[in-house]
Amino acid sequence: MENKIDIQNIKGEFDIFKNHPTLCYMDSGATSLKPRCVLDKMNEYYNMYGVNIHRGVYELSFKASNEFDIARSKVAKFINAKENEVVFTKNVSEALNEICLMLVDDLKEDDIVLTTELEHHSSVLPWIHASKKKNFKVDYIELDENNRITFDNFKKALKENTKVLAITLVSNVLGYVTDIKPIIEECKKRGIITIVDGAQAVQHFKIDVKEIDMDFFAFSGHKMFGPTGVGVMYGKEKYLKQLDPVYYGGDMMDTASKEEILLKDTPHRYEVGTPAIAEVIGLGEAIDFIERIGFINIQKKENELRDYLFNEIKKVDGLTIYNLGTDSPILCFNINYCHPHDAITMYDEDEICLRAGHHCAELLSKHLKVNGTLRASLSIYNTKDDIDRFVKKTKYIVDFFKDFF
Ligand code: ALA
Repeated sequence: MENKIDIQNIKGEFDIFKNHPTLCYMDSGATSLKPRCVLDKMNEYYNMYGVNIHRGVYELSFKASNEFDIARSKVAKFINAKENEVVFTKNVSEALNEICLMLVDDLKEDDIVLTTELEHHSSVLPWIHASKKKNFKVDYIELDENNRITFDNFKKALKENTKVLAITLVSNVLGYVTDIKPIIEECKKRGIITIVDGAQAVQHFKIDVKEIDMDFFAFSGHKMFGPTGVGVMYGKEKYLKQLDPVYYGGDMMDTASKEEILLKDTPHRYEVGTPAIAEVIGLGEAIDFIERIGFINIQKKENELRDYLFNEIKKVDGLTIYNLGTDSPILCFNINYCHPHDAITMYDEDEICLRAGHHCAELLSKHLKVNGTLRASLSIYNTKDDIDRFVKKTKYIVDFFKDFF
């Protein structure tokens, strides 16, 4: 691996800041910016060996296949999985939908899928939709007074016929990290299949799927400095060796006849057609990038940014903050008397990028009884100067709207 990267000078790794020197990007929860090395690696694929994989019997195809396979092995090491437990998908949403579709046939009427109102739509909507057709039930763990998932409330929600748990590790809106290990342990004792949405976790701290021991885990590449168009579905080997894939087509079968299809072993049986080759290889490079910085340094910087952000924003009157004491560099708030979409337009005047609305987690908006919120989500390339600009603009917007009321 190349040399370590100094997190204090990390902005230099992202060319977008050369093109937008005053960009104040606070929407990393939606997608992270991409470092030069990831883009260079994808260009290397297209310019040097940009052919299809696992099909061509020629040197260039061997090279492309090898780079693709190396990326899988990097992902596997990154989350401590076996290589055949790592399936590439389009994104986390596709992975979570596939998991639901593969498991749903085993659910009977009156079985229960347990989830929460903290979920991203990708984690919960597939189950709500399937429950209408199959007549099983979707139940929710009650959130505590701070809107966190707790072990006690999880225990209270468990029923005899709870069969699946679909749960987020880190809320994309509130940034809360759920202590899922005891929850997974309890599920194991009861034979409940566990699916963990890790989309907002993998970029912030080390995930060890063997240690947590969930059955399925999913995340996207684009939130962890990788390209769009690639995600990961992790599943324990014992499931992936026997589940029926959702998609059928090229490259996923050993032999096919009118009578029978013999599938390849996992992970290939789940990867149909030409995959996102450049993006998978780019994701491998994003993992190298993270490892060259080190999670210790990432967490230290993100925690410093989070603490500074909350410290400064708490000094501003006229706001409602929904996630005081959060675990991640995410601020969820509203400006009193101001619709989040009006506010976001005003931030944009100063090149400050936030997200407004439900953040693809409308169950949570309903639980909070709001029409939407503003979300500032930070990453390693943010600075205290970004936060100062954001806080100053927030005061300006508060004052602007105050005059109308
Ligand atoms: N799921 C992404 C977000 O939280 C897009 O903004």
